Formats: sequence, structure tokens, C-alpha cells
Amino acid sequence: MSIDIGLIRKSWALVEPVADRVTVHFYAKLFADHPHIREMFPPAMDVQRDRLLQALTRVVLSLEDADGVVDYLGQLARDHRKYGVLPEHYPAVGRCLVIAMRANAGGAWRAEYDAAWIDAYQFIADVMIRAAEQESAYVPPLWNGVVVGHEMRTREIAVITVEPTQPYAFKAGQYATVQTSHWPKVWRPYSVANAPRRDNRLTFHVRVVPGGWVSTALAHHTRVGDTLLLGPPRGSLLLERAGTPHLIFIAGGTGLAPLKALIEESMWLPERPSIDLFHGVRHHGDAYDVRDLRDLRTHHRRLRVVQAVSDEIDGWRRENAVDALLNHRVSLDGDVFVCGSPDMVRVTAARLLHTGVPAHHIHTEYTPGAPTLVYS
Ligand SMILES: Cc1cc2nc3c(=O)[nH]c(=O)nc-3n(C[C@H](O)[C@H](O)[C@H](O)COP(=O)(O)OP(=O)(O)OC[C@H]3O[C@@H](n4cnc5c(N)ncnc54)[C@H](O)[C@@H]3O)c2cc1C
Ligand code: HEM
Repeated sequence: MSIDIGLIRKSWALVEPVADRVTVHFYAKLFADHPHIREMFPPAMDVQRDRLLQALTRVVLSLEDADGVVDYLGQLARDHRKYGVLPEHYPAVGRCLVIAMRANAGGAWRAEYDAAWIDAYQFIADVMIRAAEQESAYVPPLWNGVVVGHEMRTREIAVITVEPTQPYAFKAGQYATVQTSHWPKVWRPYSVANAPRRDNRLTFHVRVVPGGWVSTALAHHTRVGDTLLLGPPRGSLLLERAGTPHLIFIAGGTGLAPLKALIEESMWLPERPSIDLFHGVRHHGDAYDVRDLRDLRTHHRRLRVVQAVSDEIDGWRRENAVDALLNHRVSLDGDVFVCGSPDMVRVTAARLLHTGVPAHHIHTEYTPGAPTLVYS
């Protein structure tokens, strides 16, 4: 691969401050020149409309870490099959990206920037096209999943169990994108909260985001018997990343879901690791999975569960999950898995590093372009 990252960075610096304008220009050009591509996208694109472009630029900017992005791109490409993306669609996206950047660079764009982005995009497109083709003969692009369980555990959190109508092979810790009939073509990722099961069922923990399209539809307007669409499994928060017999899991809210799946998986290992799970919630009543965690605890004697409550006014020690970990003086000699909102993950990883946990022992979901500290 001969990609001039220096030129990519220089040119990106020109357009980064006007990235919103680049996004608008990119989609306008893409849809005007290729109306059939418009049909792949959701009718309303206000929310999260910049995801494609943001990820694309972040991937390009992190191409130096080629190993890190290749796995991510493979999963992304397999996932793109559900939109109906074919190899012949890729050149249009690359072309429109370069045109949109050049048009918004205030006259400072140079021809050599075109060449650098075209090379980088071609590399990404080749990886994605190959990965998608490898699976296309025998894996469906998406799955139907029948809702077989729906339980509101709190006013905000639903636990939903879905049975895919075809085998759904995934690894504990991964997530699936989900679409409901209420929001056609709108997909959101949700972590699977269980390790693979013989009955092929997947459980999701869904927290309602105020005004959120898909989370509200899943929690409040979905019933047993309804059918959801599921994209292929994605994600890198896997037990195989751990190299120590002591695991520390730090979860914020429904970030518990993938860590619970990893706990289940760990029970199948010949040498079960010892696990300290710290689950942070805002209020005592938000601890939505206490009963299940207690059950897990009875089957996994080397599991310890600590519930941390951060915002309760009376009668509780106020601490978030990482405070609780440090207050309990847990030995920080093992691999630490962190899952929650992006802010929670960022703050927690920084605290852990500051406390002396080595970067290579801190595991979070891979996001292209995120600081490399957790993947070193
Ligand atoms: C890898 C991954 C795994 C995930 N796993 C889970 C999971 O297991 N359980 C779960 O409940 N969610 C999970 N999420 C978040 C989920 O994918 C959706 O983003 C979330 O449900 C909101 O979608 P929505 O369509 O309801 O809201 P949208 O319609 O997308 O958003 C409505 C408004 O809320 C804002 N918003 C969006 N998300 C949040 C948020 N989290 N907090 C505050 N404001 C927000 C938006 O900016 C927008 O203004 C995961 C996300 C990722 C990236
Ligand atoms: C080659 C580089 C590409 C990259 C890096 C890329 C990346 C992304 C990302 C990150 C998303 C957000 C959802 C997710 O994380 O799965 C996305 C969504 C999408 N992409 Fe791509 N993509 C690429 C090419 C294409 C092409 C060629 C097409 C088809 C023309 C396409 C069509 C779509 C569609 C339809 C969506 C859904 C958008 C939405 O839900 O708002 N992508 N892409």
C-alpha cells in the first residue's frame, strides 16, 4: 500500500473545520449524480447523517494502523450488504468525496491531494469489496428476528429477546444493527447480551434515548411476535483479547450487555478467569439486571459483582463504576474491559491509564480514528 498519509493529513486540515459543509455537498452530489443510490439511504437523514463520511475520513486518517482497520473494514463491508451495496457503487462514493472536499477547501486544494485520497479510498474499497464477496455465497445479507421476549425492566430500559429465523453465528461481546418496521432503513447497533446459545436467541438491553427513533420504537412500540431486521454481527470486544487470568469489567448502564455475554462465555473455558464486574448506574432503580447477575454469580464462583450508583441523593455512596473499582482496591493486574457511552469509556480509560494500568490491558470497542492508547 503506498498511501501518502502526510498529504492526507494536510488536506484534511483544510476541510475539517467545514466538515458539515463537506457532508452536505457529498450527499447532494452523490444523490444528484446517482439517484438509485439515494434509495439505499433512510428517507430522513438528519440524525446521524454524517456517519458514513465521518467513518470514511477517520478510516483514511488511521490507515497507518492498517491491521487495526482491516478487521473493522471487513465487518463494515459485510454489514453493507444489507443496504444492497455492490462493488460498482464504490467508485461513485470515492469520486463524490474528493469533489466535496476540493469544493470546500477554499481554493487551497492541490492536485496531489486528489491523488492521495483516491489511493487511500481505493485501498479501503478493495478491502471492503473483497470481504463482502467472500461471504456473499453462503451468508445472508440480513436476518429476520422474531421478538420472543419483551420486558420493561425500568421505565427506560427494555430487555428484548429475538429469535433469528436462520442461524446467526456471532461471538460473545459483539453487536448487531437492528431495524424496526417503525423506521424503515434506519439501523442502530445494540450489543448482544448473551453468549451464543443453542436456541439461536439473542437478548438486547435497550435504553430509551429521549426523542430517540429506534430505542423508543424498540422499548415502547414493539411486542412479542413482531419481526425485527438484524444486520450481521460486528465488534471487537472479544474475550480472546485477554491474556491474563484476572478480568476486570467496567460497565456504564446498558454497556453491561456485551460484558455479560463475555461472563457467560468465560464459564465455558477450561480455566475460568476470575472476574470483577463493576456496573455503574445513575440511580439505584436503574440497576435493571440485578436478578440475572445474581444467577450468574451462583454459577460462576469466581465472579464478583459490584453495583455503583453515581447520582442518588440519600443513603448511597455516590460513585461511578471506575471510582468503585478504585475504592475496592481491586488488584489492577489483569485485562480491563470497558463498555458504556463514548464519554464514559473515554473518561474511564484515561483514569485507568493514569492509575498505571498499561494501555495494552485496556480493551474497548474499536472505533476507527480513536486514540490508539487502547490498541497498542
Ligand atoms: C457499538 C454500539 C453498541 C451499542 N449498544 C447499545 C446497547 O446495547 N443498548 C443501548 O441501549 N444502546 C446501544 N447503543 C446505542 C444505540 O445504537 C443508539 O445509538 C441509541 O439507542 C439511540 O438510538 P435512537 O435511534 O433511539 O436515537 P436517535 O434517533 O439516533 O437520536 C435521538 C437524539 O438523541 C441523541 N442521542 C443518541 N444516542 C444517545 C445517547 N446514547 N445518549 C444521549 N443522547 C443520545 C442524538 O444525538 C439525537 O439528538 C450502541 C451503540 C454502539 C455504537
Ligand atoms: C468505501 C468506503 C465506505 C465506508 C468506510 C463506509 C462507511 C460507512 C459507515 C461507517 C456507515 C455508518 C453505519 C455503520 O457503521 O455501519 C455507513 C452507512 C452507510 N453506507 Fe457506507 N461506507 C463506504 C462505502 C459505501 C458505498 C460505496 C455505499 C453505497 C453507495 C454505501 C452506503 C451506505 C449506506 C446506505 C449507509 C446507511 C446510512 C444511514 O443509515 O444513514 N457506503 N457507511
